[in-house]
Formats: sequence, structure tokens, C-alpha cells
Amino acid sequence: MFELNSETKIAELDAENPAMIRVLKSTGMYSEGDNTDRTIDELCMGFGLNPMIILNMLARVQGERPPDIDISELNELNLAQIVEHIESEHHAFLRETLPVAVELVGRVAGKNGTGDDRLSELRELFTGLADELENHMLHEEEALFPMCRDMAADDGTIKPTRCGDTVGGPIACMENDHIAAKQTLARLGELTDNFAVPESADNTYREMIECLTNIVQNTVIHIYKEDHLLFPRALETQAALREGS
Ligand SMILES: [Fe+2]
Ligand SMILES: [Fe+2]
Repeated sequence: MFELNSETKIAELDAENPAMIRVLKSTGMYSEGDNTDRTIDELCMGFGLNPMIILNMLARVQGERPPDIDISELNELNLAQIVEHIESEHHAFLRETLPVAVELVGRVAGKNGTGDDRLSELRELFTGLADELENHMLHEEEALFPMCRDMAADDGTIKPTRCGDTVGGPIACMENDHIAAKQTLARLGELTDNFAVPESADNTYREMIECLTNIVQNTVIHIYKEDHLLFPRALETQAALREGS
């Protein structure tokens, strides 16, 4: 029976859920083809890192199953084009929709006073998520995305950003944010009976659910494209550029 602790081997993580390997790769501590007989403890020791940090990250995706999303049409894009696509399809959408949703959630929760615990939690949770997503997008646009654009340019040299000049650090932060955001999205689903509209709902409630549903659907795809296309491609490109230099 699988048990996640500091003695767990990398090969066991892969057999249990490949999402955990993805997280490990995002930290830059493990790459395809590395020795999978090492334990998490041994891996962390080599990087001078407390295994608890990595174990926490792994535990959060342990039960996660990948959504059924096909992004194969994006495979032909280069790093700069992937970043462009994410900004125009997802960041622009969130910037436009989040303030509208925050306002709607506030109106619905306000109308129902403090008597409805689920609506109060929904308002608190969603307002927090909206702030986190704004900060997260800014972090991507100021640190990771410029590095991706630099790598796709002619000489491939990364100009230092406020997060240095390697993609591993920002990607580990982003992965962590994504895990937290997915947990919040799941909780929003619980609080709204999976975004159902009760027959008695008024127009504001209907609008709120429609808006939240669009945000959740777009964000699940957004995160998936970054986790499964942008981040691995950025890490691979950086490794290839270093080998070639
Ligand atoms: Fe993003
Ligand atoms: Fe992201």
C-alpha cells in the first residue's frame, strides 16, 4: 500500500500518481531520466531542502486525477507563442471577469445577510481567490513569462527579472499557487452544490452562478495548459540551452 513519507521512492510516486512527478519536476530537483530509486529524503538532501516542504506539495496533488482536456493543438507553438496564448485567452478573461464576479458574489451574500453560512464562506473564499489570482498572474507576467520570451528569442539568453534568471524557482511557486487555487475551486463547488441554480433563485444568483461557472471552467483549462505545456517546455528549453552553451 502506497504511503507518502520521506522514505518514499521517486518510482513509487510515479506509479501512484504522475501528477506528483510533475510537481517534483517543477521544482527542478528531478528531471526525466534521473535515478528513480532515490527517496524524497535523499533527493532533498542533495539540494539542502527540508523534505517537509516537498512532502506538503506532493500530498496536495496525491489524490488528484487529470481533467479530460486536449491541448494537443498547442504543441506546435513555441514558448513565446504559448505565453501569448495564455495571456490573451486566460489572463485577459480573468481580468475582465473577476471584478464582475466579486461584485455579484458580494451582492448575493449581502442580500442574504449573515444568516447563510455557505454564502458568507463563498464570499470570503472567492474574494480571496480573486486577489490571489490577480497576484499570481502578475507574478507570471513579471517573472516567468519574460524569461520564456527571452528563451524563444534568437540568442535564448534570459535577462534577469526580480526572480533571478532561472525558471525553476518561479515555476515551483506557480505550481504551489495552482494547487491552492484548485483546492479553492473545489470548495466553491461544494458550497454551491456544484454550481447548481435552485428554482427559487433570483436573477442575481443566476448571474453569479453563470459567472462563477465560466471562471472555474476557464481556470481549470488555464492551469492545465501551464502545468502540462508551459512549465515542462520552459524547464526543457532552459536545460537544452544550458547544455548547448
Ligand atoms: Fe497564468
Ligand atoms: Fe498560473
